[in-house]
Amino acid sequence: MRGIVLAGGAGTRLHPLTRVTSKQLLPVYNKPMIYYPVETLIKSGIREILIIVAPDHAGDFVRLLGSGKEFGCRFSYEVQEKPNGLAEAFLIGENFIDNENVALILGDNLFEDTFVDPVRNFQSGALVFASKVPDPERFGVVEFDQQNKVLSIIEKPKEPKSEYAVTGLYVYDNTVVQKAKSLQPSARGELEITDLNNVYLREGTLEVAFVEGEWLDTGTFEALYQATTFIRNKVHQQL
Ligand code: DAU
Repeated sequence: MRGIVLAGGAGTRLHPLTRVTSKQLLPVYNKPMIYYPVETLIKSGIREILIIVAPDHAGDFVRLLGSGKEFGCRFSYEVQEKPNGLAEAFLIGENFIDNENVALILGDNLFEDTFVDPVRNFQSGALVFASKVPDPERFGVVEFDQQNKVLSIIEKPKEPKSEYAVTGLYVYDNTVVQKAKSLQPSARGELEITDLNNVYLREGTLEVAFVEGEWLDTGTFEALYQATTFIRNKVHQQL
């Protein structure tokens, strides 16, 4: 399994914090934000990781993370020229993915869980990870039946059909590259990850698993503050 960390985007919601740096380089307690998703992939057993960054601060990511040797794995880097959508990661990463399966994690998502078993046991199709949230309308929302069969997956619905957000970790088989190539930009001009998941859903190969521990998307001031507090408390518990 290869891994991609998507750490592009403009971070405009966090201005002025992100005026001279990238959101994913901001501190979350004692580490830069991107360390957390990188470590989630590594703890899940992934050793070859592509980091996709925006052009403005690309050099800072390379200076921070280097070759990956320090982490016991191999990092490569690509630049996403514009925030054209999450699913563009599979077009940018086509050569890197080669003939392998791939896990994508968003550079601003923090997971308490490790995903060793789902990554090790993954064979084909697509696997998304859901988490119960009080404000599902802010996310992709997954609806499923009593057997956890996925019924629908909708991006930021006004009337969510469940309380379960799709988190920023996705596992796909190698057909993801061809599927991403078939997508058209949405009304907001992006290649949507939810459209990609819907291709798998129509094919009958989209599965959902559930996040057990804490999950934080750090894209707002409030969420960034919560993430910092959460990590601080964890560090103090371990002292
Ligand atoms: O966090 C989980 C949510 O992430 C999912 O529930 C949604 O289905 C999914 O669309 C996404 O929603 P967001 O509103 O959080 O997406 P956002 O545009 O904020 O992008 C997420 C991260 O990815 C952010 O750190 C910036 C980065 N990004 C975004 C885009 C659009 C890129 O690196 N490149 C891009 O083209």
